[in-house]
Amino acid sequence: MDHDELVSSWFHLHSSVPFSYVQLPEARPGIVASGKNIPVVDLGLHDPSQTLKQILNASQEYGFFQVINHGVPKELMDDTLNIFKEFHAMPAEEKIRESSRDPNGSCRLYSSREVNNKDIVQFWRDTLRHFCPPSGEFIQFLPQKPAKYRELFVKYTQEMRTLGLKILELLCEGLGLDPKYCCGGLSDSPSLLGHHYPPCPEPSLTLGAPKHRDPTLVTILLQEKDINALQIFKDGEWIVVEPIPYAFVVNIGLMLQIISNGRFIGAEHRVVTNSGIARTTVAYFIRPTNEQIIEPAKPLISSGVRHKYKSITYEEFLRNFMSKGSDFEPELLL
Ligand code: OGA
Ligand code: NI
Repeated sequence: MDHDELVSSWFHLHSSVPFSYVQLPEARPGIVASGKNIPVVDLGLHDPSQTLKQILNASQEYGFFQVINHGVPKELMDDTLNIFKEFHAMPAEEKIRESSRDPNGSCRLYSSREVNNKDIVQFWRDTLRHFCPPSGEFIQFLPQKPAKYRELFVKYTQEMRTLGLKILELLCEGLGLDPKYCCGGLSDSPSLLGHHYPPCPEPSLTLGAPKHRDPTLVTILLQEKDINALQIFKDGEWIVVEPIPYAFVVNIGLMLQIISNGRFIGAEHRVVTNSGIARTTVAYFIRPTNEQIIEPAKPLISSGVRHKYKSITYEEFLRNFMSKGSDFEPELLL
């Protein structure tokens, strides 16, 4: 990767948005719904059946919720956001060096310029992405700078695995499946993404991330207080996800939409930019291993309910999703 492929390397030199970052008029950030919010799920309720009800309603109606009383220490949440801020603030050469130890790409720094076809519009964001399987494989390829990066990464991904499995168990129980249904290969290949959205001179023309669904079972997002940038698309309107301090934003991904045979919504969302302040987020992607077959859970269709989706290996899904994006989604339907 070249230094100037990173948005953080050049954004400060511009007083307007370069043409390749200007979105088509229909994709630009516009009006958002006022007074609407996504549901909150309290994981610390005395009555677990109430928690189950909250999480089920949220997953069926919105595919998005914020979790509180989740048990992850506040200090670890602060430290993790800060270490990613420090990483993205390092000189470009250092960022590239620290993120390129694995020739097979288990750790990667990229911006949309590298991922997308050069002809399509780019996004105002840099991302550091790392695989973090429970086996601990790939740890030797993690950045060694900032100094605390590895230690925090290990602690944080352990907490995310615990929280993620708890959420998946509730969701599977709610579907009437074995609570452990998603706990094996379906969730054994997680990744962690540290996104950095630099300030943008013309936020009305750009996006930090396009409208998309995640290629995950579930995504757990840590975002900063006080910056409204994440929006979800529901019933034809954009709803802002207003950060609740020390809550996590959780969303259902396309894989769980398929496994649940469409009962849970893999909700569409996007990220807008702002001119004042950089925004950092940390996304934990709960993903299947490549060879896993993704299909509606058998117990959900044995009772005469119609299959809505084809069976596909995660590897094949990803290959198509990476090249065709959301255009591939209709092909998943039966
Ligand atoms: C993602 C995502 C939202 C954000 O990583 O898929 O949607 O606010 N991130 O960074
Ligand atoms: Ni997403």
